[in-house]
Amino acid sequence: MGDVCRYAVVTGANKGIGFETVKQLAKSGVTVILTARNEKRGMKATSLLNEQGLSNVVFHQLDVQDAKSIESLAKFVQTQYGRLDILVNNAGASGVVVDEDVLRALNVDPVDWLAGKAVNVIQVAMKTTYESAKLCLDTNYYGVKNVTEALLPLLQNSPSARIVNVSSLRSELKRVPNEERRKELGDVENLTEDKLDKILQNFLHDLKQDALEVNGWQMMLPAYSISKVSLNAYTRILARKYPKMCINCVHPGYVNTDINWHTGTMPVEEGAEGSVMLALLPDGGPTGCYFDRTVVDEF
Ligand SMILES: NC(=O)c1ccc[n+]([C@@H]2O[C@H](COP(=O)([O-])OP(=O)(O)OC[C@H]3O[C@@H](n4cnc5c(N)ncnc54)[C@H](OP(=O)(O)O)[C@@H]3O)[C@@H](O)[C@H]2O)c1
Repeated sequence: MGDVCRYAVVTGANKGIGFETVKQLAKSGVTVILTARNEKRGMKATSLLNEQGLSNVVFHQLDVQDAKSIESLAKFVQTQYGRLDILVNNAGASGVVVDEDVLRALNVDPVDWLAGKAVNVIQVAMKTTYESAKLCLDTNYYGVKNVTEALLPLLQNSPSARIVNVSSLRSELKRVPNEERRKELGDVENLTEDKLDKILQNFLHDLKQDALEVNGWQMMLPAYSISKVSLNAYTRILARKYPKMCINCVHPGYVNTDINWHTGTMPVEEGAEGSVMLALLPDGGPTGCYFDRTVVDEF
């Protein structure tokens, strides 16, 4: 887009990968709306970047679970800028209730964690309750969907819109044990949002019945995993619907942040690289793809 100013929204940006994504985008000249659900935390993060000379970062409150908050952000972007060029759906929830002391004492090997091998060990330290699972789906899947839908009219005003959905390794289809579900989620031609709703309803139903394992759901972070699998599927649905935009999802790496209780090994500077690259894709770049950091990978 040459010298023309670009406008970006990053969700869940008061800390972690989101905060670093804002920083890197602002450094590359993009005007970034740093959003956070908590006004105080968001303003503090914004001030920090402003003090570092990044005057092109502005704050607006956004709780991705709150329809009114989403509407207010969309109105703000409409009035201030009239369009949106980049949306980074970064906000996320783990879906578990954790005893951090127990988790630390377990001292899980990062390699086992990533491979999902630590599943039996970590059950001691983390529990998936109905409430924690619901909150996770409402943030990682429905939150992204509602924010995106509200901002799509503004993205359509951009000559080169980009949507980046921050996903996870847990989203990969090969990790979905149930074969029928894996096939359904990978059948991009026939995927619909209704199908995803049904899958998520079934998940919550099985969780309530204490029947996740027998029904072939992932046991390593079950709610988080299906939320991110669904997010990837939604990314593909959107990419087909809006072929002029670049709409992709990305696993940021195993990054040292609060969401994994700092078990992650990579610094946030590296964790934000995938999101930033996809936010700044040139015209004609890939769409409807899944990236492992900056490299395209299989869904
Ligand atoms: N770190 C990793 O290794 C890793 C790996 C794979 C994927 N990811 C993904 O990367 C993304 C960023 O996570 P992170 O590692 O940077 O974790 P983080 O430091 O814990 O950041 C998560 C952010 O999401 C925000 N958030 C949670 N619920 C929200 C809501 N309802 N509305 C708005 N914001 C909300 C949090 O805000 P509060 O501060 O108010 O809680 C926080 O700013 C997530 O989508 C995560 O799933 C991370």
